[in-house]
Amino acid sequence: MTQEKVRVPDLARMKAARQPITMLTAYDFPFARIFDNCGIDVLLIGDSVGMAVRGEDTTLAVTIDEVIYHTRAVARARRRALVVADMPFLSYQVSPEDALRNAGRLVKEGGAEAVKLEGGVAIAGAVARIAAVDIPVMGHVGLTPQSIHRMGGHRVQGRKSGRAAGCRERLLEDALALEAAGAFAIVVEGVPPSLAREITASVAIPTIGIGAGPDCDGQVLVMHDMLGLYESCAPRFAKPFANLWKEAASATEAYVREVRTRAFPAPEHCYAESRRSSR
Ligand code: KIV
Repeated sequence: MTQEKVRVPDLARMKAARQPITMLTAYDFPFARIFDNCGIDVLLIGDSVGMAVRGEDTTLAVTIDEVIYHTRAVARARRRALVVADMPFLSYQVSPEDALRNAGRLVKEGGAEAVKLEGGVAIAGAVARIAAVDIPVMGHVGLTPQSIHRMGGHRVQGRKSGRAAGCRERLLEDALALEAAGAFAIVVEGVPPSLAREITASVAIPTIGIGAGPDCDGQVLVMHDMLGLYESCAPRFAKPFANLWKEAASATEAYVREVRTRAFPAPEHCYAESRRSSR
């Protein structure tokens, strides 16, 4: 792992060198600083904030102002990682001009270094407009959570052959359209590994998989899934590398117990009467 700042062209170099790209979502200062210190290459302020942080059922209610708020916190914590901010539902679909204005806000007000949009052929115009003013754009194909109502839920895509939305050949076309429009990388979510492999081999830009098998150029997870910071079960693809829910619950139980028994605060947690003998 290099300690040097990760910049957009580095991701292409990593693909060429077959060096896997590491990406995690982050929404606040402390976790962003931990992930950055640990060498995560890309921090994504995902619109998953609506579900992971606010407990909503979908990502659809998240606004551009909310993503800017979280992006600022992450950008302040970042020393090395590339900071990518998600464009939430309806912040880029109305027109390419609107998309450019909102992407610009994520950069100017949030401190993002790149933006991410869901979709393929249908949003290629917005991608091209944003990329034309040198705001780097990451695409996102496959299971695109903003399309939840069309998909009928968070469902694996690309299992059926065909050119209808969500079908295998169409998803490949979407990825190619994103590359042609100027995207610098593509998230490939919730597709069979064979399709992720085919997309990765068909585009020159890096692919970053989530629930897409081992053959993408990198991997991304929602931080709560990676840390086991959820009450109910996570999706199949989301390996928990810790159980922070359990850790946080046992710390909270200990705090409640010690307050109730007056074990906390102990003398070492109290200020002395005079300033000379204490902080
Ligand atoms: O919003 C998000 O967190 C995402 C990742 C799952 C890639 O788009």
